[in-house]
Amino acid sequence: MDQRKMHGVWANRWTFILAATGSAVGLGNIWKFPYIAGENGGGAFVLVYLLCIAVVGIPIMMAEVLIGRRGRMSPINSMRYVTSEAGLHGGWTGIGWMGVVAGLMIMAFYSVVAGWALNYVVASAGGGFSGISGDEAGSLFGGLLQDTGRLTLWHSLFSVMTLAVVAAGVTKGLGMVARVLMPFLFVVLAILLVYGFTNGDFASAFRFLFDFKFGKLSWDGVLVALGHAFFTLSLGMGSIMAYGAYMPDHANVGRTIVTVGVLDTVVALVAGLAIFPIVFASPGIEPSAGPGLMFVSLPVAFGNMAGGQIFGTLFFVLVAVAAWSSAVSLIEPGVAWLSETKRFNRVTATIALTLVAWLGGLGCIWSNNWLEDKPASGIYVFESLDFLTSQIMLPLGGLFIALFVGWLMRRAIVASEMDAEGHPLFEIWLFVVRYISPALVALVMIFSLADKFKG
Ligand code: TRP
Repeated sequence: MDQRKMHGVWANRWTFILAATGSAVGLGNIWKFPYIAGENGGGAFVLVYLLCIAVVGIPIMMAEVLIGRRGRMSPINSMRYVTSEAGLHGGWTGIGWMGVVAGLMIMAFYSVVAGWALNYVVASAGGGFSGISGDEAGSLFGGLLQDTGRLTLWHSLFSVMTLAVVAAGVTKGLGMVARVLMPFLFVVLAILLVYGFTNGDFASAFRFLFDFKFGKLSWDGVLVALGHAFFTLSLGMGSIMAYGAYMPDHANVGRTIVTVGVLDTVVALVAGLAIFPIVFASPGIEPSAGPGLMFVSLPVAFGNMAGGQIFGTLFFVLVAVAAWSSAVSLIEPGVAWLSETKRFNRVTATIALTLVAWLGGLGCIWSNNWLEDKPASGIYVFESLDFLTSQIMLPLGGLFIALFVGWLMRRAIVASEMDAEGHPLFEIWLFVVRYISPALVALVMIFSLADKFKG
């Protein structure tokens, strides 16, 4: 059977761009980027992150899409196809397998955080933040983290939302959601940027994010930046490969992917420029507050500002929507693969994999309550899943994808899928994918892991 008919194709190039941007723009941009930038001292971290996006992220994103477009199947079967086309050993298919596992691992903690956002939509809309102090906001968030029942409820609701979209398929589910939600998201973000600019301390925020001082940056920080470049672009696990498989034939990969990468980066920076002015305007709140940054400092800020109830609600709706259009891409690679095995159809495949990720999410929720006397951040399963995926599995996946496309696929095939034979930019890209991206990923991983295990 023609695989393209099986999964469907994006209606046009822009649907692909919006869907891929929908996958890329998510909790990574709005929740994670501001707090890791805060933890790693701001400016220098942001600069390294931008470099990672440009020289590692975007080139590898093109490589990943290219494999998907060549194979036209789920990442596992696309990898199988391009591997046999290159006359190689099937071990390379492992990239696809690792991706399916990594996707479920990410989805497990991702849907828990998205659940926090849903909880905050309701809390904010109900006026729960009005006049709140920093301490009160802290204990509100702490209280939520202890409340396994409520966490499970929101986590489950988010899982069902994701399931519904993925089960509806590429055209009616993923594509539709992208076309409706992404424009909404851009508009809301622009509104919030203006709100932060007029109501917060914009100058301090700008300095914090763009004043490049290297003193505070460790190797570990560099690995965090690199890992985040993968995470934020949805790279290294097959999300983008799966989306590439549904790409129309005539779309130009290079230009399309640059658009996606730039949109994702702009959203992260704008999210920072919307959040930090508010953080800096609130006395007693540190930019390095960690995962709670968004869930503690923003309620305080919104709770004490004119129009905060509306804008606060809008903000958390934005977070939930961004998370939603990303989560669907976390399970799509596994769902596409299961549907290809014939024993499952799309709906049963989606239910099965959502269930696995949902159980992982319960692990995050319950492990948080295991210890009476836990350290401030004591979210162990959660943090381990985040660390293993962002800092190990995704960079490794990306490294192998770059090596495969750069060295093992036939050049003529690569060039024809990129539709750019002889173009000078094509030569530069191929050089980067062969030498620069793999070398950087390998170096950063070695240095920072050595650093970590040394003590
Ligand atoms: N990129 C999304 C974010 O920034 C999360 C995400 C979706 C993802 N699919 C992925 C991360 C695949 C890594 C790999 O929130």
